Amino acid sequence: MSGTKRVGLPHTAERAERARRLLARMTPAQKIGQMTQPERLHITPAQVRAHHIGSVLSGGGSTPGRNRPADWVAMNDAYWAASMEEDDRHLAIPILYGVDAIHGNGNVLGATIFPHNIGLGATRDADLIERIGRTTAREVLAAGVDWTFAPTLAVARDPRWGRTYESYSEDPALVTAYADRIVKGLQHSNGRGEGVAAGLAGVGPEGVVACAKHWVGDGGTAAGVDQGDTRADEDELHRLHIAPYVAAIEAGVHTVMVSLSAWNGEKCHAHRQLIQDVLKGRLGFRGFVVSDWNGVEPLARAYDDAIVMAANAGIDMFMVPESWREFIAGLTHAVERGAVPMERIDDAVERILRVKFACGLFDRPRPRVRPGSNGDCFGSREHREVAREAVRKSLVLLKHEGGVLPLDRSARILVAGRNAHDRGRQCGGFTVEWQGVSGNDRIVGGTSIWEGIRAAAPRAQLCTNGGARADTADFDAAIVVIGERPYAEGLGDIREEGPVRAGASNLPPGPGALRPYGDTLELATLHAGDLRTVRGLAARGIPVVAVLVSGRPMVVNDELAASTAFVAAWLPGSEGVGVADVLFGDHDFTGRLPFSWPREMRGANSAPGNDGRVLFPLGYGLRLGAVE
Ligand code: BGC
Repeated sequence: MSGTKRVGLPHTAERAERARRLLARMTPAQKIGQMTQPERLHITPAQVRAHHIGSVLSGGGSTPGRNRPADWVAMNDAYWAASMEEDDRHLAIPILYGVDAIHGNGNVLGATIFPHNIGLGATRDADLIERIGRTTAREVLAAGVDWTFAPTLAVARDPRWGRTYESYSEDPALVTAYADRIVKGLQHSNGRGEGVAAGLAGVGPEGVVACAKHWVGDGGTAAGVDQGDTRADEDELHRLHIAPYVAAIEAGVHTVMVSLSAWNGEKCHAHRQLIQDVLKGRLGFRGFVVSDWNGVEPLARAYDDAIVMAANAGIDMFMVPESWREFIAGLTHAVERGAVPMERIDDAVERILRVKFACGLFDRPRPRVRPGSNGDCFGSREHREVAREAVRKSLVLLKHEGGVLPLDRSARILVAGRNAHDRGRQCGGFTVEWQGVSGNDRIVGGTSIWEGIRAAAPRAQLCTNGGARADTADFDAAIVVIGERPYAEGLGDIREEGPVRAGASNLPPGPGALRPYGDTLELATLHAGDLRTVRGLAARGIPVVAVLVSGRPMVVNDELAASTAFVAAWLPGSEGVGVADVLFGDHDFTGRLPFSWPREMRGANSAPGNDGRVLFPLGYGLRLGAVE
């Protein structure tokens, strides 16, 4: 380990020096441009050059051309070329492009889509997490992109939160154990300790810049409300929510995104103590801090005041998808009138430049000639094998009776349920579209759960009508794939009252127009058809293996009671075949619950005193080896 440090130190020092020298040449307008991150739909390459823009992002589902890697490479090449023109008004500083590759490079058609984090939590396999990071990085680079807004290090404490699936676990120890490995995987670095001690670890040639999000306490909001308020004293905040960031910073994570939520009533985007004092001070974070989508506007009535609050709180780069012109004008004015000190601007820009040097951006050629661009690895068989392994290891067996598993390949198996043959639904949110998609057409490559079963058991039959007239003379067993439809962020919240708050995140404005997913965690209420299918088949004497596709643990008492075996499959992603690998006994079930499983909705959160409401505890998961 000390060897790594000795090799790393001169490089980090040299990179920091290059950043300082470049900063010294920059005008205020060039500095403020570096701090600005518009969304691709709202900025052209010519505007990137004219306004000295430092970064551009794609919001979920915002994709160029026909949405193939080549379209992305062409887009990034144009932004890059504009950013690299040099004359007496413009400095050549390469643009850093950011995407939400949170379970593979999921915006792009044909990408390998990994299980969402909740499923990875079930695997308890940190080596696998690092390999997934490396694989994802290669598919991001294939699109000419350098930065992913991942990993999400949320410790979700209430499954009503619509982003529960982005969380590895309710257990901070598990999230912490993964934080280190996913950062190293994505950044292709092994510079342990460099992030704190010596600056920033470099990003390997096959790595991308990672972004730990959302700082901090996003998973702890009261009642699981997205962008809500996390009420906790400082000790609890550290123990539950800050701990994973310590590991990510140690691993050298280059960027951190601020949470749209609040801590004890104070918005994180304006929280100087959390950003300047804790993150950059006490934890020694040397990379840069980016705001979340429109996270600044809600801070104050006047946008200019909000900008001052956020900049002085320590935000370095501003995700201002549409309002980037107003942002530039507001921050420029704030600096001119002394409301934001020049030292704060210099600190922000130095951090941004340091990251750009540390990730090798200045040394990488233009996107269209980079070795990784348009790489054959994108959506390759080799990458899909990693995802398939993750699916296998993520499955948690919650109930098993009568030795129904493993299923016999020559058995007559009826396959039913809305999620059986739907690659979109099994991928969930943040796949091709921000809110995800339903159906098979837009998940190019991969297999639905049904397609995997069909390949394993040639006599299996898909019954789209739920097998209404099937009986035991025709079938030995049924696999019924039930669960949720895709969603993202607040639109996935379970709320007993109130619409999803508009105005921040990717939500269009318009109070009251946006409805959360539902008002209960009970699957039988949300999707009554699922229970009817399970019960209908069970009543005719066919043993039912229920497979739940969902972004969180749900109240499924009735479905459990009616089925012979019950598997939590989370949101497995594009490689549905991994489910068949385990159902037919090629591999045993090894997944263990990353969240405790509720018996009832009231008190489903992980607050102390809710143990009596837990049906299966954290860590629960049956194995066939043990029950045979
Ligand atoms: C989300 C972030 C995401 C960003 C960019 C926001 O709405 O909260 O997690 O990285 O959008 O798409």
